Amino acid sequence: MHSLHINEQMVRLLKTIGYDVGFCKGVGQYLYDREGVRYLDLLSGFGVFAIGRNHPTLREALKSVLDSDLPNLVQLDVSTLAGILAERLLAQVPYLDKVFFANSGAEAVEAAIKFSRSATGRPGIIACEHAYHGLSYGALSLCGDEIFRKGFGPFLPDCVRIPFNDLAALESALRARTAAAFIVEPIQGKGVNLPADNYLKDAAELCRRHGTLFVVDEIQTGLGRTGRFLALEHWNVEPDMVLLSKSLSGGHVPVGAVLTRKNIFEKTFNRMDRAVVHGSTFGKNDLAMAAGIATLDVIASENLIRNAEVRGEHLLRALTAMIPRYEFLSEVRGKGLMIGIEFGAPKSLKLKASWNMLETASTGLFCQLITIPLFKEHKIVTQVAGHASHTIKLLPALVVSSADCDWISAAFDTAIGDSHRVPGAVWTLGRTLAGNAFRG
Ligand SMILES: Cc1ncc(COP(=O)(O)O)c(C=O)c1O
Repeated sequence: MHSLHINEQMVRLLKTIGYDVGFCKGVGQYLYDREGVRYLDLLSGFGVFAIGRNHPTLREALKSVLDSDLPNLVQLDVSTLAGILAERLLAQVPYLDKVFFANSGAEAVEAAIKFSRSATGRPGIIACEHAYHGLSYGALSLCGDEIFRKGFGPFLPDCVRIPFNDLAALESALRARTAAAFIVEPIQGKGVNLPADNYLKDAAELCRRHGTLFVVDEIQTGLGRTGRFLALEHWNVEPDMVLLSKSLSGGHVPVGAVLTRKNIFEKTFNRMDRAVVHGSTFGKNDLAMAAGIATLDVIASENLIRNAEVRGEHLLRALTAMIPRYEFLSEVRGKGLMIGIEFGAPKSLKLKASWNMLETASTGLFCQLITIPLFKEHKIVTQVAGHASHTIKLLPALVVSSADCDWISAAFDTAIGDSHRVPGAVWTLGRTLAGNAFRG
């Protein structure tokens, strides 16, 4: 059905990399295939399952909404659940005052672009190279990677892209005083790129000095992922806007949120006849709001932010300890349960020839020699952190246990070790992948 009616290329891709196992059940941090085999999911639906799949509290909350005959989406009313979720979110970010609810991450980004323009009267948006903010036109106009943009132009005018971690580039982009906002991920999802220690704080200060809003996209990093409610808290920064989505859905009901200051919000919603000047039919729907409230409850009651911090340190320690033993392994970095494992060209001639063979076929192909065995032999689902990237990203549910972390580190140890055996089974796979890439 998918080949015929939906995306045939996706079906081809899954078959090629051997992921067509027919997942049919998900519980917590685990997936089960049609044979009942259990997998540890380090992708968590691109980061939506902070509380794990099918959490009983979340399911109960959704069932109780359905059982309550709530009116939902009256549109000419204001719903209680949206008020509660807004209050609960703002309690975590007390320097912000207002919430706008959207249906996805990209929609939150679109709202942020519009709010910034209307609050400042300026057209420009500054974003970073390698940024990812979603694929609708405004959001895509800010994305840093050509793979997503090629063939879809022209984009939103007045968007400027600067290198991440480059304050001088930011200052020079701000100098014209035409930028409404600088929109930035505190840790870039594509590549798991960490900010320099002073970067976000100094960037916020520069923006303030130039009358540009400092907008932080916490769609992936927010809600405890990095061991803090917001990743920004690691660096003590108070932005003008925070964007949330992904985990807030509990993995069940899409939702997005823009948290901002009253004076910014009220530049858009400034008169009664403009009360609906920005919005979306399904925004604030009861199921999404209930999912958000239940998610926040579970994060608090199960102490998941602390768990993310502790398990993240465990994984960083275990994976970093492997670097001296493996030539292909160049860096392990991250915060909490957002971890990047970067591979690079080896020193020894024998391994270098094999690395070059893959790189010539397709940049970043080496990572498949790790992710495919991790999946097939160790039952771990992982992803490469972006197109042509040499970094594998770990983004597990925040409920992972110490035993799961041992499972992950033992599996990486074996998979990386196997990739250093040339010739060997892994490099037979490598030649097949390189052949496919050349033919492709
Ligand atoms: C940082 C960031 N911003 C925005 C988005 C877009 O969210 P969505 O896919 O819900 O539109 C994503 C999705 O991966 C993201 O990671």
